[in-house]
Amino acid sequence: MKCAAGSALVLVLSTLAACGGKGGPEVSVPPDSTVGLAAFPPMANDNPPGASAAARATATALGRGVNFGNMLEAPSEGAWGLRVEPEYIDAAAAAGFKSVRLPVRWSNHASPGRPFDVDPVFMARLESIVDSLLGKGLYVVLNMHHYHLLDGDPADAGDTAVDSTLVAERFLVMWKQIAEQFKGKSDHLVFELYNEPHGRQSPAAWNDLAARALAVVRKSNPQRVVMIGPTNWNSADALGSLRMPNDSNLIGTIHNYSPFSFTHQGATWVSPVLPVGVSCCDAGQQAELTAPLAKARTWSDATRYPIYLGEFGAFEMGDMASRVRFTRLMRDGAESRGFSWGYWELASGFGVYDPAAHAFRSPLRDALLGN
Ligand code: BGC
Repeated sequence: MKCAAGSALVLVLSTLAACGGKGGPEVSVPPDSTVGLAAFPPMANDNPPGASAAARATATALGRGVNFGNMLEAPSEGAWGLRVEPEYIDAAAAAGFKSVRLPVRWSNHASPGRPFDVDPVFMARLESIVDSLLGKGLYVVLNMHHYHLLDGDPADAGDTAVDSTLVAERFLVMWKQIAEQFKGKSDHLVFELYNEPHGRQSPAAWNDLAARALAVVRKSNPQRVVMIGPTNWNSADALGSLRMPNDSNLIGTIHNYSPFSFTHQGATWVSPVLPVGVSCCDAGQQAELTAPLAKARTWSDATRYPIYLGEFGAFEMGDMASRVRFTRLMRDGAESRGFSWGYWELASGFGVYDPAAHAFRSPLRDALLGN
């Protein structure tokens, strides 16, 4: 049966009864005040206190990191050609990275209707990966990635179809389950609420949803450090409209792919595909690269929350010498402003590691980690 979208309460309730996943419990429909998002009130965000010493220490300890991209945020692990392998965990730690950001498409591993159960096999897989990373002494940033419906974007082929009235509530209930599963982990595990909110996640919508999600997380993880980034794909330009909740164990996060015409040349997921042959980094490009970092520094000074640069990188269609220059400039620009960072990404199209050769691409690795 198709779980049709609908906004009238009666339709929501009948949809619920028909599509609730487990049948029975939804028949005793809760009072209106607990239907949908109303059951997940937002944390206040009128007076964010700035970061605690613990959040600041964690932000620093994340240090130089790398994204395990194109693995767990693919529609299913392996669908984009990469799985999380012990080899990658060992290689990241041995190279000297201090943290790994784990992008995860949870939305393809949870039931579409209430109670939105996360697949226990997938949850166990994630727990084992997180444990392996923590066991290597790495900090871990565990996020939610590519829940396209949350941004109002079309689903990818093979994505779980979800009734539009349930999409945001499902986001919160997935976080409830993730937070409960990982609540006993070391404080070297950090949660990041959502990668690159955009589209339907206007500043107002995202400030509201993030405050609800943090309240959900805080029920089981009262102290864990959580990252929240601004809208417009975690653009530093949107930091001004980001309202941090009234909570001190928080870090702000941005992404920086400027100059985009260089970093994303030839990338097939950008439309139209940008022309190749762009090198980096002349003075104008350096100014483009630096401007978002300067904005983030200003925001961090004003709000007293630290910044983690969660993604930057240059796609393989650029020449290697330019990619190395870009990478080193971004690293230095971030570090000189006190930001920890995660390079995008380990072993795919931006990869610092060549999975076929089982070796790092040393010019990129040195740009990230060398003297
Ligand atoms: C997206 C990736 C993309 C990367 C660079 C990430 O946030 O999730 O799919 O490759 O940005 O564009």
